[in-house]
Amino acid sequence: MNLVVNGREVAAAPRPGQCLRTLLRELGWFGVKKGCDAGDCGACTVHVDGRPVHSCLYPAFRAEGARVTTIEGLDEGGALHPMQQAFLDAQGYQCGFCTAGMVMTAAALDQAQRRDLPQALKGNLCRCTGYRAIADAVDGIAHVEADIAGAGFGRSLPAPAGPAVVTGRARYTMDVAPEGELAGLAHMKILRAPHAHARIVAIDAAAARALPGVIAVLTHEDAPAALFSTARHHHVTDDVDDTSVLDPVIRHVGQRVAAVVAESEAVAEAACALIRVEYELLPAVFDPVESMAPGAPVLHDKPAASRIANPTRNIVAELHGEIGSLADGLAGADLVFTAGYATQRVQHAHLETHGAIGWRDAEGRLVIRTSSQTPFLTRDALASLYGLPRDQVRVVTERVGGGFGGKQEMLVEDIVALAVFKTGRPVKLEYTRAEQFAASTCRHPMTVEVTVGAKRDGTLTALGLKVVSNTGAYGNHGPGVLFHGANECLTLYRCANKRVDGYAVYTNTPPSGAFRGYGLSQTIFAVESAMDEVAHRLGIDPFALRRRNVIVPGDALLAYDDHPHDVEFGSYGLDQCLDSVEAALKDPPKPDMGPDWLVGRGMAASMIDTVPPRGHVGMSRIALTAEGRFELRVGTAEFGNGTTTVHGQIAATVLGVTGADIVIRQSDTDHVAHDTGAYGSTGTVVAGEATRRAAQELLGQLLARAAARAGTVTDHCRVEGGHVVAGAARIPLADLAPLEAEGRADGSPRSVAFNVQGFEVAVHRRSGEIRLLRSLHAADAGTVVNPMQCRGQIEGGVAQAIGAALYEHLLVDAAGAVANPTFRGYHIPTFADVPRTEVFFADTYDTLGPLGAKSMSESPYNPVAPALANAIFDATGVRLRATPFKADELYALIPAEPAETI
Ligand code: FES
Repeated sequence: MNLVVNGREVAAAPRPGQCLRTLLRELGWFGVKKGCDAGDCGACTVHVDGRPVHSCLYPAFRAEGARVTTIEGLDEGGALHPMQQAFLDAQGYQCGFCTAGMVMTAAALDQAQRRDLPQALKGNLCRCTGYRAIADAVDGIAHVEADIAGAGFGRSLPAPAGPAVVTGRARYTMDVAPEGELAGLAHMKILRAPHAHARIVAIDAAAARALPGVIAVLTHEDAPAALFSTARHHHVTDDVDDTSVLDPVIRHVGQRVAAVVAESEAVAEAACALIRVEYELLPAVFDPVESMAPGAPVLHDKPAASRIANPTRNIVAELHGEIGSLADGLAGADLVFTAGYATQRVQHAHLETHGAIGWRDAEGRLVIRTSSQTPFLTRDALASLYGLPRDQVRVVTERVGGGFGGKQEMLVEDIVALAVFKTGRPVKLEYTRAEQFAASTCRHPMTVEVTVGAKRDGTLTALGLKVVSNTGAYGNHGPGVLFHGANECLTLYRCANKRVDGYAVYTNTPPSGAFRGYGLSQTIFAVESAMDEVAHRLGIDPFALRRRNVIVPGDALLAYDDHPHDVEFGSYGLDQCLDSVEAALKDPPKPDMGPDWLVGRGMAASMIDTVPPRGHVGMSRIALTAEGRFELRVGTAEFGNGTTTVHGQIAATVLGVTGADIVIRQSDTDHVAHDTGAYGSTGTVVAGEATRRAAQELLGQLLARAAARAGTVTDHCRVEGGHVVAGAARIPLADLAPLEAEGRADGSPRSVAFNVQGFEVAVHRRSGEIRLLRSLHAADAGTVVNPMQCRGQIEGGVAQAIGAALYEHLLVDAAGAVANPTFRGYHIPTFADVPRTEVFFADTYDTLGPLGAKSMSESPYNPVAPALANAIFDATGVRLRATPFKADELYALIPAEPAETI
C-alpha cells in the first residue's frame, strides 16, 4: 500500500493485524511512542489526514492513501510548530516520553477544546508532570528564563534536550534501527508462570524450537546458577541474593519460566504458547503476617550467604531499634494513642516500559542498551553474573522514559545478555504494559501501627512504630525500603523515647521494589495521620502540634538501624514550610458549596535525608575542547528528573559561561569510571557535587594557564565572553585547550530536607466523592537550582501521590495474579484528576549540597496521602486509615448529619 508520511511517499506492506504505530516505528519514525497497546496512554498519537488518532489502535492498512503526520513532521518548513514551541517555552515535559503524543493532540485542538483541557486531553497520559506545565504550554504561558554567563544557577533554564523532545528526535532505548551492529536484531518474549508457587518438573520446548523463525528457547538449564538481587545498590550486600535469571521454582504469577528468541516478536510469542511445562504445585501464601507464622510455606530455602534474615519465617529483613525507652515514654504520657494504618500495592507506571537491547561490539564486548537509573551498577552485576571483567561489559542509557525508582533494578538486562551469549545475535526485549504491571515491581504494601505518647500540651513523650512490609516473591530493595521507611518519619520529631520494630516479608505476590519515597510514603501516611489524630484528641491545632515537636538545628539526628549515621543540618527550612502552608490554607475562608458538600482542610509534614544512606558515588569529567567549549561527562542518567539541566547549570556557573557552552554526555559506562546511579536526588546532590568539583578544578587549571600565558596571577584572571581575561590580555578559551579535570563526590555527610503539604477538600455527603479544591506544597530544597524544573518535580510527585491516595491499586486476585494490568484498569491520574498545586520554596542555603542545593524530586510524594486523610477527617469526621480513599467506602461512613465537632 502507499501512504504519505510527513510529506514523503511511502510504499509499505503491513503485516496482517499490524497497527499503524508499529508500522511507523519500523519505518524509522521513532517519535511515535509505545506506552501501551490499548489506546489508553496516547503516547502514539499521530495525525491521519489531519485528525489525531491513537496509532496503536489504528490498523496500518487503513492508512492506505492517507496523509500521516508524526511529531517529526509537525514543524512547518523547518520552524517549530507553535505547539512544539509552546511546550519548549513552558517546559511542558519531564521525561518526554508522552510529549510527542501530547503535542500532536494539543496541536489539533480548536479554541473551544483548548478551554476544556481535562476533556480534550483525556486520551493522553503523563506520569511525570502533574499536567500543570502541559496546561501552561497549551495556554501559551512561558516559563524558561534567559541564560546568563556565570549566573545560570537558580534560574529557570530550559532542559538541553528540549528541542529534541518536542520534535521527537530524542532517542529512548527502543528508538534504534536494526542496522550496523544491530543488523539481524532478534526478538525475545518471555513465557510467564500461571501459578503463584510451583516447582518446574519438566519443560518440553520441542514444538517451540521447531517453529520456523525460532532461534533459541532458553530455560533454567541454560542460565547461570548464581543468585543475585535485581535491586541495584552501591553495596551489593545491601540486598539479599534470592533471584536467578531463570529459576526452576516459581514464586509468583508472572515469573519468568522460559524465554524465546526469534526472528520476530510474533514468532517469539507464538513459540511461547507452544512450550509445555509440567509443574508441581506448592502451597502459596499471600499475606505477610500469615507468611511469618509457623507452618507457612517457605519461599526461599537459601543459604546464609544469601543474607535473608530468617528464611524459615519468610523474613527478608527485620529492624528493631530503640532510643530511650518507649515504655517509660508511654508511662509519662497524658495521652496514649495507638492505631494501625495500611497502604496498598501501587505501580510506578512510567510510560516507557522496561526494555533492553544487547549485542556484541566489534571487540566482542557485551553492550547493553537499556532504560536504567543505574547503568554502572547494572554493568557490574552483569560482569559478576557472567564472570566477565568489568571492561568487557558496556551499559548505555540514553534518555529514560520515566523511572521513579522502578529502574533501579536489573529486570531485563540479565536475560537479554544470556540470549546474546547463547545466540550470538543482537537481541531485544521490550515489556508490554501488561508485563510491566504484572511482572516488574511495585511499591511495598505496608501495615504500620503507630503508638504516640503525649503530654496535655502536645509535647511528645513516646513514638513507636511497628511495620510489616510485603516485599512479594523476591527481596529486591526489601531491606532498604524497610530501614529507610522507618527512619525519617520519626526523626522529624524531637522525642526522647522512640522504638521501631519492622519486618520485610516474602509472599507469593509480584515483587515490590524501590519507588519514589522508598518506604517513607507508607510510614509517613501512618505517622502524620496519627499526629493529626493526637492533635484532635488534645484539642491542639495540627500546625501547632508540629511546631511544638519537630526537630530544629541542634537536635539529634539518629537512625534506628546500626548503619553509620552521617546526617547533619546543612540547612533548615521546615519552619518556613509550615508557615507558608498554614498561611495559604487559612486564607481565604472555606467556601460554602451547599449542604451536600463537606469542606475540610488538612496538612502533613515530612522529612528526608538528602542522600539515601550507605554509599553513593558520583564522578564527573569536564574538558575544555579545541572549539572552546566544555564537554562534561557524567554517569548519572536523565529520566525526566532534570539532572542534565542541573549539571549544566552547576558547571556553567562555576566556569563563568552559559549553559549553552556546556556539552553534556551522560550515562554510558565508557564515559566515567563509576556512578552509583539515580536514587532520590543523588543526580543533583551527589553527582552534581562531583560536577561542581570537576568544574572548580578545571577553572583553576584554566586560570593558571591563562595567567602563565599573560604573565600575571590567577587572581587577575576571569572567564568572560568565550575568553579568559588575564590582566590586560584577552585569551580565547579555544587557545587554552586542551584541559581536563575530574570530580568525585560520595554524598557524605548528608543533609536534611523538608516538605509540608496542605489540602482543602470537599466531600459529597451522599456519594463520598472527594474534590480537591486546593493543593498547597512547601518545599525546603536549599538553593533552588532551577525553579521551573523543581516546581515541576513537586507537582509531578504530588500528582502521583494523589493517584496513590485516591484510586491507584494494583489488585492481586485470590490466586496471586494481577487483576488489572492495564492503564484503564489501574487508572493513573489524568488531566482532569489533578488540581494545580501551589508551590512555595523555603529560602535556605545548604552548606553540604552543591552551591547550596539539596534534594527535592523524591520527597514531595510523601506527605500527600496523610494531608488528604487529615483534610477528609476535617470535612467529614471520618478517619480513613487505609489507602486508597474510595468514594464508595467513604460515603457509607459519613454521618447522616454534619458532625457536631470536627
Ligand atoms: Fe509525560 Fe514523562 S513527561 S510521561
